[in-house]
Amino acid sequence: MRRLSRRKALSLVKELDAFPKVPQSYVETSASGGTVSLLAFSAMTVLTVLEFFVYRDTWMKYEYEVDKDFSSKMRINIDITVAMKCQHVGADILDLAETMITSNGLKYEPVIFELSPQQRLWHRTLQVIQNRLGEQHSLQDVLYKTVLKGAPTALPPREDAASEPLSACRIHGHVYVNKVAGNFHITVGKPIHHPRGHAHIAAFVSHETYNFSHRIDHLSFGEEVPGVLHPLDGTQKTTSNNNQMFQYFITVVPIKLHTYQVSADTHQFSVTERERVIDHAAGSHGVSGIFVKYDTSSLMVTVSEQHMPLWQFLVRLCGIVGGVFSTTGMLHGFVGFCFDVVCCRFKLGVYKPRDVSPDQ
Ligand SMILES: *[C@@H]1O[C@H](CO)[C@@H](O)[C@H](O)[C@H]1NC(C)=O
Repeated sequence: MRRLSRRKALSLVKELDAFPKVPQSYVETSASGGTVSLLAFSAMTVLTVLEFFVYRDTWMKYEYEVDKDFSSKMRINIDITVAMKCQHVGADILDLAETMITSNGLKYEPVIFELSPQQRLWHRTLQVIQNRLGEQHSLQDVLYKTVLKGAPTALPPREDAASEPLSACRIHGHVYVNKVAGNFHITVGKPIHHPRGHAHIAAFVSHETYNFSHRIDHLSFGEEVPGVLHPLDGTQKTTSNNNQMFQYFITVVPIKLHTYQVSADTHQFSVTERERVIDHAAGSHGVSGIFVKYDTSSLMVTVSEQHMPLWQFLVRLCGIVGGVFSTTGMLHGFVGFCFDVVCCRFKLGVYKPRDVSPDQ
C-alpha cells in the first residue's frame, strides 16, 4: 500500500518535469545554431563581467534625521594664517551664552605670509578641487569613498629656509565648544576675561600694522577626517585696507560617515561670506578682524556606502543568462522561419501557388 502511493507520488513528480528529455537522435546540431550559441555565450560573458563591475561598485546613501545629541562637545579645527605679528592678534571663541571658551588649544606660530613654491602648488591644487566641487557635487561621493585612515591633509611645511621676517601669524589647533551657536574671532590684541564679558587689549598696536589679510588652510568642525574637504579650506583673502572686517556665517550639519574604510562623525558646513571696510566716519561701524559665526543645524545626515547585496547580484545573473539564452533561441527560430519563407518559397520555387482551377 505504502509502496503504491510512493510510486504514485513519483509519477506525479515525473509529470511535473518541465525539462522534457529529448532522445539524442532527435537533436540536430546546425552551423547556424552553433553560431547563435557562440554569440549568446559571448553576450552572456560580456554582460556577466559588466554586471560584476556593477556589483563591485558602491554608492553613497544620504539619510536625514533630527540630531538629538545636544550634550556632546563639538570640536573646531582651525588653521588660519593672518598677515599680522603674533603678539598683535588674539583668537577666541564666544558662544551663545557669552561664555568664553578657553582657546588654550590654539597655537600661535610666527610665519611668512607668502607661501613657498611647493606650498603654493599645494594651495593651488586645493583651490582647483574646491572649484570642481562647487560645480560637480558627485565629486564629494568620490572623496568620501577615498577617505582613508591616516594623517589629515595639511599645508606641507616650508621646504626653504625663511628669508623674510616672520611678519605673519599662523593660528592653528583645535578647541572644544558646546553645540550651540557661537562666534570665533581673530582680532587685534590678546583676549582677556573680566566678570562682565571679555575684551581684547589693543593699546599698543598702531593702526598701520593692522592687516587682516588671511589664508584659511583648514577650518572644520568635528573629527578631522582625512580626504574630506571643507568649503573654506584654501580660501585666501587679501586686503589693502588696514581696517577690514571679514565675516563668515557658517551653518554646521553633523554628518555620520560610514564607508567600507572608515566610520567617522564629522561635520560639513555651508558658508556665506561678507567683508567690508570699517570706517566710522562713513557710518560703517564695527571692529576690524576675522569673525566666524557658526550655528549648528538640527538635522543630521547619515552618509553610508551602499553595496548591491549578493542575492540581488545572483538574481540579476540568472536574469542575464536565462534572458540571453531564451531571447537568442527565439531570434534564431524567427530568423530561420523568415529565411525559409524568403528563400524557399519565392526564390527557389519549391513552393508554387496552385493555379486557379479553370472550372471556377
Ligand atoms: C597685508 O598683507 C598682504 C600680504 O602680505 C598684502 O598683500 C597687503 O597689501 C597688506 N595690506 C595692508 C593694508 O598692508
